[in-house]
Amino acid sequence: MSTIEEPDSAPPPTAARTGLPRVRPGDQTRLLTRLLLPAFAEGLIRRRPRAMAWAARVQADSDAVATVRDLRERYGPGPLQLSPAGRSVALVLDPDDLARMLRETPEPFTPGAWEKRRALDQFQPHGSLITRGPRREPRRRINELALEMDRPLHDLAPAITERVRAEASAVAGVATASGALSWDDFAAGWWRSVRRVVLGDAAADDAGLTDRLARLRSAGNWSFLLPRRRRAREDFLARLEERVRAAGDDTLAGRLPDTEEAAGQVPHWLFAYDAAGAATLRTLALLAGHPEHAARARTEAEEGDPAGPRTLPYLRACVLEALRLWPTTPVLLRESTEPTTWHGTVIPAGTVFAAFAPYFHRADPAGSYGDAFEPEIWLDGRAERNPALVPFSGGPGKCPGEDVVLLTASTWLAALLEGREYAVTSGVRPVAGEPVPATIDHFGLGFAVAAD
Ligand code: HEM
Repeated sequence: MSTIEEPDSAPPPTAARTGLPRVRPGDQTRLLTRLLLPAFAEGLIRRRPRAMAWAARVQADSDAVATVRDLRERYGPGPLQLSPAGRSVALVLDPDDLARMLRETPEPFTPGAWEKRRALDQFQPHGSLITRGPRREPRRRINELALEMDRPLHDLAPAITERVRAEASAVAGVATASGALSWDDFAAGWWRSVRRVVLGDAAADDAGLTDRLARLRSAGNWSFLLPRRRRAREDFLARLEERVRAAGDDTLAGRLPDTEEAAGQVPHWLFAYDAAGAATLRTLALLAGHPEHAARARTEAEEGDPAGPRTLPYLRACVLEALRLWPTTPVLLRESTEPTTWHGTVIPAGTVFAAFAPYFHRADPAGSYGDAFEPEIWLDGRAERNPALVPFSGGPGKCPGEDVVLLTASTWLAALLEGREYAVTSGVRPVAGEPVPATIDHFGLGFAVAAD
């Protein structure tokens, strides 16, 4: 890879007064303590198991959503102006405003906000998401092409299905024999499947590579405070580049063009597959708590030729629903590159626009399905018609990996469900007929497994 660009060491733009409704200091403190601090404690770039266990115990997202809902009721639809640590922040509360900020990406709303660049450049200095200016478009395009964005079955679906089924069946077999499945059991198989799908079978056992990435992601959690770990980053990127160079045509990395910087996109893929793993096990927990939905999912899993690639629409809808209820990107950020006008008010360049996804996905903008498990909304057009539901973001910055994620996750779930029943044995769990818990700790999930 070419020399590493340092995205930015300059300080972020500072707050300027706007004509937006200003959040009073007491309310700003409440947002800080009920939303921002818990999100930081849980780890925005790499979740921390102990903090996640605490967050699930106190149902931290319930407080955070209630705080945002209360601000919306008292101040109106916003955006609302905040100035934490001297930074100009506009809190977006209205689905149409959210849609605008996503639609008008990357200009005038760049996804490469200063905070995101500081965090992600710890391990993906060339990633499209944090690239600003003219270099963004070609990097974004490389991702869209290699991941075959918006195509439910990637050209590599047969190879992906085969690898995923092999790993998932091995995990399911051990779980059936022992009668139990934990996050750790699942995660070991998950990461083997990810390394095989992204980099090829030769990388199946290279846990050292993904462990190195995990350590750099932990550093990303502290992006404001910690210096860059340049040596560790160079080491990781060099090792990854070797793997990418050796990746065959039957792998996602093998679909990248043969340019010097293409490999610079792969750190994001490996990073983001972690969220997909969490979403997969959370979906299993939702199904375990909702027997009627589980029966429908199992019927789908057992239909057709399980060894061949399948679209598995119902299982995909269940994964999307898990991501609505527990979004893995809880805060969507954009930074304005020029002054923008909102409801007649000009907001200066350098303002961070922040949208808290759990509020949009669960509170009033979500409509009647708020806290319910209702995968049907992803099949009957309701979710598509609602601009508030953005688990994979939206507009020109939308996740180009969505279909590959849904293919991987639904294939995993089908293999786990075939001929087996699951019950959640750990503390916080979804139960049919009750509101789905606001926060779930995927590290702490445990299941009883029975074959039939
Ligand atoms: C559950 C799994 C995933 C979810 C929920 C998810 C969601 C998202 C979201 C919300 C964004 C926009 C972030 C922002 O605006 O700050 C994004 C960007 C992105 N995602 Fe995903 N993602 C997932 C997995 C993946 C995977 C596995 C890949 C690759 C194999 C991937 C590739 C990307 C890329 C390359 C971008 C940056 C796009 C750009 O620069 O415009 N994602 N994803």
